Amino acid sequence: MLIDEGTIARRVAELGERITEDYRGRDLVLVAILKGSLTFTADLMRRIALPLSVDFLEACSYGSSTDSSGAVRVLKDLANPIEGRDVLIVEDVLDSGLTLNKVTEHLRAKSPASLRLVTLLDKPARRRVAITPDYRGFEIPNEFVVGYGLDHAERHRNLPFIGVLRPEAANRG
Ligand code: IMP
Ligand code: MG
Repeated sequence: MLIDEGTIARRVAELGERITEDYRGRDLVLVAILKGSLTFTADLMRRIALPLSVDFLEACSYGSSTDSSGAVRVLKDLANPIEGRDVLIVEDVLDSGLTLNKVTEHLRAKSPASLRLVTLLDKPARRRVAITPDYRGFEIPNEFVVGYGLDHAERHRNLPFIGVLRPEAANRG
């Protein structure tokens, strides 16, 4: 166990309060990056006391199951235009930054009024491109984590807490 349910909930509430202050009077669209940020988005949106909309984007990066290769592809694009709107990308974990780099480029081409990033987890030690989140839940060490939406080979997303995957479990797949 790395971060328990209560700690996650308190931090998500704090992030929601800050986002509420910052986006008052704006035209907020949350763009959840599937599938990992599903849980975080569901909790965070209920802590933002503003009118907002939610859209989804699914990206995949090639590579081994615990390391992304850098080649990123958009599997599912947004359902609605974001031109002129205030977009907040909601991500589960910022690791190398390669995925978010591509996603940001992809979204910027759609001409939003503003584009910012909230990530629940940040592993700055792993960064390969210069990306800094505008809001971040927790800075974590360089470990592969699962739970609260995060998977390893599509498993463990339903754990209510965030835990470190044991190397034996990672090898078993
Ligand atoms: P990046 O492109 O290396 O920043 O990787 C971002 C994506 O890799 C995230 O959206 C996750 O899907 C996945 N990822 C990175 N680190 C972890 C982890 O510790 N656990 C589960 N998924 C991770
Ligand atoms: Mg993933």
